[in-house]
Amino acid sequence: MDGTRPRVLLGVAGGIAAYKACELLRRLTESGHSVRVLPTASALQFVGAATFEALSGLPVHTGVFADVPAVPHVKLGQEADLVVVAPATADLMSRAAHGRADDLLTAALLTARCPVLFVPAMHTEMWEHPATRDNVSLLRRRGAVVMEPASGRLTGRDTGPGRLPEPAEIAEFARLLLERSDALPRDLAGRRVVVSAGGTREALDPVRYLGNRSSGRQGYALARVAAQRGASVTLVAAHTADLGDPAAVDVVRASSARELREAVLAAAKGADAVVMAAAVADFRPTAFAANKIKKGSADPEPLTLTRNPDILVELTGTREPGQVIVGFAAETGDDTGDVLHHGRAKLARKGADLLVVNAVGDGRAFEVPDNAGWLLGADGSEVELPSGSKGLLASRVWDAVAARLRTG
Ligand code: CTP
Repeated sequence: MDGTRPRVLLGVAGGIAAYKACELLRRLTESGHSVRVLPTASALQFVGAATFEALSGLPVHTGVFADVPAVPHVKLGQEADLVVVAPATADLMSRAAHGRADDLLTAALLTARCPVLFVPAMHTEMWEHPATRDNVSLLRRRGAVVMEPASGRLTGRDTGPGRLPEPAEIAEFARLLLERSDALPRDLAGRRVVVSAGGTREALDPVRYLGNRSSGRQGYALARVAAQRGASVTLVAAHTADLGDPAAVDVVRASSARELREAVLAAAKGADAVVMAAAVADFRPTAFAANKIKKGSADPEPLTLTRNPDILVELTGTREPGQVIVGFAAETGDDTGDVLHHGRAKLARKGADLLVVNAVGDGRAFEVPDNAGWLLGADGSEVELPSGSKGLLASRVWDAVAARLRTG
């Protein structure tokens, strides 16, 4: 890396999603990366070089015969800390898989020794064609990360897998690969996992509720990372910040603790792993007022609360053979013990296989992109989770889950 500014090479292939590369470029430069854009000749049919030059502040070349004295086809790949190709078309991935070097981008891909992230965008038929499947497998076997595309509206009227994931999500994966180059192995292929995320709301009347500050970011990161590691993922999402659905993830919505319980227990049947990252309210108002509670003139009645079911305890109590169950605990220390002491006691009480313990308070963990903590195992293991993105923490959790699934 050059000083503190990671160097990202952003390859852009010729597909309609090339316009989204501008938003990705903006996000990458705003996060402090030095980004050099390398479009193919076809990409320049969709977005002009001037746009990429203005947004990156760097010149843009496409052919191997431009700026020859600088030997860009060798240097650009060699000097990069990360290469992101977004959109990666079927043609671009085919050329990359076969080691061709017929333009500057494919030549740079051959000289790059850093992590390479391909972000496919194409029509569903092209994505599902055996030729593309083989090229994707070959690129993955050689160590490149090929993201699963999103499902949804494609060019024209058709929908299906093949849509470029949102630029915010691509930027998250770019950051993750810069933090940890081996964060996205395909070790969850063939596995089915369930992740809960966000905070529940317990209704008091039609307009008021008891809620909490969970943004859902950690749960979303867990779902995203699992999907890119090859798992089939159900994300049970309670209330979250405005996050956008993760690519290649099945999202089920729930509002209250009881709704979340129904959705998680249903999805957990036959699943290999369940990760409870949701902030579930322990109590709900005993009575729900069907009509809005009016202020009136008398003093209010005290609020009475009823205990909600503990979903994690229920999951571990009905665990299927080989199923791995992960809980989260946000703790502050107190007179009776520190954060880890409370974490160990909670792991035992809940019967989980793994517990992620976050220290909270002083602005840590909630509503911020970064996270840190410890991963405690029922086998007595204790791994410190270094400070980093929520994607990084997610990748460490899936490492531990995958290891248990392998030996389980
Ligand atoms: N959890 C759950 N059902 C609940 C409450 C919590 O499944 N009704 C899960 C959370 O998703 C999390 C874990 O249990 O994975 C720990 O949540 P936490 O609120 O820290 O646990 P509590 O049992 O409420 O412990 P405390 O005594 O600290 O309130």
